[in-house]
Amino acid sequence: EAWNPSGKYRVVSTKSMPGTRWIRLLTDQDCRVEVCTEKKTILSVEDILALIGEKCDGVIGQLTEDWGEVLFSALKRAGGTAFSNMAVGYNNVDVDAATKYGVAVGNTPGVLTETTAELAASLSLAAARRIVEADEFMRAGLYDGWLPHLFVGNLLKGQTVGVIGAGRIGSTYARMMIEGFKMNLIYYDLYQATRLENFVTAYGQFLQANGEQPVTWKRAATMEDVLRAADVISLHPILDKTTYHLINKERLSIMKKDAILVNCSRGPVVDEAALVEHLKVNPMFRVGLDVFEDEPYMKPGLAELKNAIVVPHIASASKWTREGMATLAALNVLGKIKGYPVWADPNR
Ligand code: DGY
Repeated sequence: EAWNPSGKYRVVSTKSMPGTRWIRLLTDQDCRVEVCTEKKTILSVEDILALIGEKCDGVIGQLTEDWGEVLFSALKRAGGTAFSNMAVGYNNVDVDAATKYGVAVGNTPGVLTETTAELAASLSLAAARRIVEADEFMRAGLYDGWLPHLFVGNLLKGQTVGVIGAGRIGSTYARMMIEGFKMNLIYYDLYQATRLENFVTAYGQFLQANGEQPVTWKRAATMEDVLRAADVISLHPILDKTTYHLINKERLSIMKKDAILVNCSRGPVVDEAALVEHLKVNPMFRVGLDVFEDEPYMKPGLAELKNAIVVPHIASASKWTREGMATLAALNVLGKIKGYPVWADPNR
């Protein structure tokens, strides 16, 4: 599908993206916009090479694609200088290879912060109150009257939320859980989350002034401190070689037996096979997973477990956010083509 066929610059999007604003932005600035119409969800390197073709000034790509040496060298040969990932995570992009071929890389941070944090909060609540299990129970026609033990879960108020990676999304999630449910905070990050600490302090003082138990915060010296202390743990690191299998068998074993683990970051941050084993022998341990180690697949056994809630990588899936991501991705590419600074963001 193509818009403004006579445009001077050729910009390719490997997927149809929500809204039309991103297309208008490009066509208004003399770009011909081509959107891949291929029906399969995950494009191969060959598919993308065919899309780049002989002449291509910029590409908007997706987190499901492997942007490395082969694609960036092809983009350079086609005269391209810009690539934007429609995602905040860019573990699928070899930024060094892009740099080598003179291609600027952009991503789409900011617009997905709240939407992603809201999904992490939703999974935390759904796991704590066993909402998916209870829904299945109702639909199966098994409800035959109120019982004192029916789907008893965890009260979040007064419990401790643990955040691993307190960047934009992790901090926003923490604030939601603290302010929404009066949870205490323990977090682990290489950097100090000063604004988050200030927020918890001020909120604690507010609660105290109103005769309520104040919330507390602690910056943990090690990740293990968080895993041992927290009742709900949400993972928000980037995926790189230092965070691959960050949550492994040993680390699972030090978590509370009835803890809740939420992952809306990247699947390989968790050793999923070890997690499946852990869930099998610890029925009170619950997880909410938005991402998986070998997407779109789940490790064997996960789908059968009642103590796991699984959703298909939808953390950023609100209309406002997805349109914003598409717009930012277009601006990144346009900025580079027109000589404005791109929104490349190697830091969180
Ligand atoms: C991202 O932007 O990295 C998200 O995973 C997309 O939902």
